Amino acid sequence: MALYSLSPKGLWHRLKTASQAQSLEPGNPALPKHVALIMDGNGRWARKRNLPRTSGHEAGLQKVREIAEECGRLGIPYLTLYAFSTENWKRPKAEVSFLMNLFYDSLKDVTTTLDEQEVRIDFLGIPDGLSPKLLNLIKEVQAQTAAHSRLTLNLAINYGGRNEILHAAKELMRAAARQEMDPEVLTEKQFAAYLFTAGQPDPDLLIRTSGEQRISNFLLWQTAYTELYFTDTLWPDFGPAELRAALVAYMKRSRRFGGIKKGRGK
Ligand code: IPE
Ligand code: IPE
Ligand code: MG
Repeated sequence: MALYSLSPKGLWHRLKTASQAQSLEPGNPALPKHVALIMDGNGRWARKRNLPRTSGHEAGLQKVREIAEECGRLGIPYLTLYAFSTENWKRPKAEVSFLMNLFYDSLKDVTTTLDEQEVRIDFLGIPDGLSPKLLNLIKEVQAQTAAHSRLTLNLAINYGGRNEILHAAKELMRAAARQEMDPEVLTEKQFAAYLFTAGQPDPDLLIRTSGEQRISNFLLWQTAYTELYFTDTLWPDFGPAELRAALVAYMKRSRRFGGIKKGRGK
């Protein structure tokens, strides 16, 4: 045992593991400030077990709490979860209403623990089509948690990236019509202030589970320079260990934003 750990290979392995563990130290500035997640694969997870798709959504919900807690523990201040897209209304009515009830019940449940965990909940998306009951709860939760700052958890419910950009464009056109803004001097920064994510940093890392490699209308503006990470793991199997693997992969990337980095190879 002693001999093995002193061998060059053993030593290298230990050093490597140590540096990786260190890099996941809570508050490490190399960690992303904002992680966005496309939680995909609930239906396939259920099908593999001969269960109804709804069981996959229930199993997936458990992971939301685990991942949010892990982000809080690591000191990652923003987490955005894609829960329901503007395109998901195409699904069977029964699945859509199951999901809406699940959102309502889980938000109701979680409100009691949000204060102690200092989580601020925000919502990205449009009200059209959501029930007044869910919309009222959303408003309440937003107001109740507005002062928290440890972790901002954005829930994207009835969210579409194109819809968000269109919404911003309409607002700006109205402001221009009222002569409150001048289109000639509009900047990217000012435009971004009209998005649902106003005031928040762009995601550094976008994770999509279940093997699909597409954006599916998520955060189209905000992901211009986001690092993408795709994993075959289905969402209900994606726990803190999988999140940490994604973070380690992220920290090995060289982000150049169109420039060049000296001494970092390609
Ligand atoms: C993601 O899982 C959850 C939502 C879109 C609400 P899916 O329901 O898309 O699962 P698959 O892709 O069918 O496996
Ligand atoms: C994206 O997943 C939306 C959410 C995870 C909420 P979908 O399962 O709806 O995406 P597509 O249809 O495979 O692109
Ligand atoms: Mg899917």
